[in-house]
This record gives sequence, C-alpha cells and structure tokens, in this order.
Amino acid sequence: DGEVFKYYVDGEWKKSTSGKSVSIINPTTRKTQYKVQACSQEEVNKVMDSAKSAQKSWAKTPLWKRAELLHKAAAILKEHKDPIAECLVKEIAKPAKDAVTGVVRSGDLISYTAEEGVRILGEGKFLVSDSFPGNERTKYCLTSKIPLGVVLAIPPFNYPVNLAVSKIGPALIAGNSIVLKPPTQGAVSALHMVHCFHLAGFPKGLISCVTGKGSEIGDFLTMHPGVNCISFTGGDTGVAISKKAGMIPLQMELGGKDACIVLEDADLDLVAANIIKGGFSYSGQRCTAVKVVLVMESVADALVEKVKAKVAKLTVGPPENNCDITPVVTESSANFIEGLVNDAKEKGATFCQEYKREGNLIWPLLLDNVRPDMRIAWEEPFGPVLPVIRINSVEEGIHHCNASNFGLQGCVFTKDINKAMMISDAMETGTVQINSAPARGPDHFPFQGIKDSGIGSQGITNSINMMTKVKTTVINLP
Ligand code: G3P
Repeated sequence: DGEVFKYYVDGEWKKSTSGKSVSIINPTTRKTQYKVQACSQEEVNKVMDSAKSAQKSWAKTPLWKRAELLHKAAAILKEHKDPIAECLVKEIAKPAKDAVTGVVRSGDLISYTAEEGVRILGEGKFLVSDSFPGNERTKYCLTSKIPLGVVLAIPPFNYPVNLAVSKIGPALIAGNSIVLKPPTQGAVSALHMVHCFHLAGFPKGLISCVTGKGSEIGDFLTMHPGVNCISFTGGDTGVAISKKAGMIPLQMELGGKDACIVLEDADLDLVAANIIKGGFSYSGQRCTAVKVVLVMESVADALVEKVKAKVAKLTVGPPENNCDITPVVTESSANFIEGLVNDAKEKGATFCQEYKREGNLIWPLLLDNVRPDMRIAWEEPFGPVLPVIRINSVEEGIHHCNASNFGLQGCVFTKDINKAMMISDAMETGTVQINSAPARGPDHFPFQGIKDSGIGSQGITNSINMMTKVKTTVINLP
C-alpha cells in the first residue's frame, strides 16, 4: 500500500526526486492499482547521458555475446510469465490466458531477434568499382551495418510488454542502447519485463526505463538531442512526434481502420469466425482489429446472422475470469466508444444487440446497415463495437477502404485467388490478408502501415535493419 514502483536508470532502481507519482487505474475496479514514479526532465537528462556512454562499449561487444544476453533475457522473461501476466490483467484488463500467451510470445520474439541479428548483422557486402562506367577495378568497397546510438522506445497500452521487446530486441542486437518510456497503463508490466533484462546482466545504462506524465516528459524525451531513433506505437500522438522530432529515423505504427471485404463466394462460417476473432479479441483494442466489415449485399443477411450467433456466445466480464470481452482501458475510452455508438444510433444504424455498458465494460455490439455519414464508418472505436457496411460491388468496398486516412491492414474473403490478388493490389494498406483476419504476427513478417497508419516497416528483420546505418570502407588500389 502506498508503494511507488521505482524507475530504472544506470542499472539501478530509483525513486524520482520529484516526489511525485502517477497512478495506474485498474480498468475493471476503476480504483488505483499501482503507482509509478513521475520522473523529471532532469532525470531524463541523466538517463540520456548514461544511455549514450553505455552504447559506446556495447557497440564493441561481440555480436555473439549480445545475442547470448538476449537469449538469457528471453528465458528469464518466460520464467516470469505469470507475475507479468498478472500485472497485464490488473493494468490493462487483458484476459488472463492472453496475458500469459503475450509474455511467452515476447520471449520467443527476443530469441528470434538474437538469431536473426547474428545472421543479418554478421554479413556485409563487397563491391568492385569497374561495374560503373569509366572505372577500372581499383576500388574495393566493404559495407557493414553500424548502430544508430540511443533508441527511444514508446510502446502502447495494449501490448506494453510485447511491443516494447519488439523495439528493445532489435535495438540491442544491432548495438544500440535503449530508453524505454512505457505507457501509463502497462507501466508496471513493462518495469517487470525490464527487471528480466536486469537479471540477465546487461551492462549498466544500456537499458533504462523512465515513467512519468506525458505532459512533463513526453515532448522532452522525443525532442531530446540525445535520441538517435524513435520507435513508437500508439495513436495520434505519433503524428505530433513525427512533426517535432529532429533529423532521426522514425518507426511509427499509429492505428488503423482495417476493412474486411467479403465477396459472394466466401465461406461465410470462416468469415464469421474471423470477424469474431479479428473484431472482438482483446475487446477490439488492437491496431489490427477488423474495424469495418464491407460485405456484398447478397450474402449480408446470412453473414450478419452467423456473426450475431457467435457474438451471443462471447463471455463478458473481468479479465481474471478469462472473459472474451473485458473492460476497455480507461473511462475516457469507454466514453469515446459510446459517442460513436450514439452517433450511429441517431443516424439510423441497425443494432444487432442492445447497447449495454457498466463502468468501462461495454458489451459486444454489431452495427448493421452503417452508412458513410456515420462516424463509426471511419473512426476507430478501439472497443468491442463493429460496423457492417453493405456493398453492391467489389469496387465500392475497395473505394471505402482507400478513402480512409488509415492504411494498416485489410482482409478479403473469397475462394477466387485471382480476384483476391486483384483486390490486394488495389487496397492501399501495408498488408492484405487473404481468407484470414488481419494480424501483426508471426513476428518475423514485415508489418507496416501507409498514410496515417505509420512510417517505416516493422517485423524482426526490418526493425533490426531500421535501427542500423550502413557504413562503407573503400580500399583504393594503386
Ligand atoms: O495494436 C498493436 C498491433 O501491433 C496489433 O498486433 O498481434 O494484435 O496483430 P496483433
């Protein structure tokens, strides 16, 4: 009681001299669950200094040793899966089983990153000069990949551990140091994950974790001259960060409005199962959630019936009980979702279930006959509410998808692979899934959004490459 979790700097757990703390509200009980330090700008400066000096010797540490430490951290993280999952349940209302799976996935991600790193960083290129017109073979060019320096990692609330290690792993294997700013909801899970890296024995200062109020240290961190790369996952804040950040590489994933296009020949049972999984897992709080269904009118009634039957079976309640639908992360998030629902009601959407809310808990809701004048046709609820728009042609579906500001993923259901490929080519999104719901994983697949959905590409290999620079040495022969 009254305990405030310490932040992590220079290999030590410390109290902030600000004397202030940030409260983490349990989404289910809506009471303060944990408190973390509200770090000051001065403390951020110290973190940056230690990250900078630790990086210098880390860059000289043999690649196989870096990999060895990452493997060790991965194993320790997996050993700690239960207590970390418990934090995820309390801080972000992640269903208990999914919370454990998420930590195991994170351990696997770190191990894969270590293996991928030793391979792709273990080789470079050798070029000769006489392939370019006018040159003799008098120059040999050697390339290698060198680290960027200090990487600032800012993961979102929905995967405070997994989307932290997807940044930490690639940064470290490539020889960078890491400053982690976890989301407020999820901060304690992240601190516990950092503890696993601490136990693995990484050098002091190589990994730091600062907690605090965005208003106090947010801009200060992202605009800090000591930062050489920002990897951010989250919402609109990313747009503001990208405008303010200096001339450094940015990796950003900022949400989506993933469309599910359903053609007349689709296997409707498969579609319904994927709409449930894609639209309602973790109560729709995923960037890659199915956020709008675009179904051909001729099969719409049948599909809606199938989805309705499955929605009725979803369990609703606390994350401790492993319910499918759990309270959304904050009261303001629940209020935002309710605003979208009310707007759709006023404009005449068909409610397949009655709208029901208790505190932050919102019952799953399918809205049929949604039209483009409704906010929910375009905005992401980040909650268990899914709009269905009936379309009369494939072109109409593609047009709706491409009119969105977002372009993360999308999916198309049809048995006709030629049509599926044609639609995939036409959809302006980073990924199109054929006959399955959108998803980021497996974690070595490239993951990227276009338009307002982000900058750059993630996935283990792409993240390692993104967190390096090419260095060349040219040998000039007489
Ligand atoms: O919401 C974050 C995004 O990266 C989703 O990941 O694994 O749920 O597809 P995933």
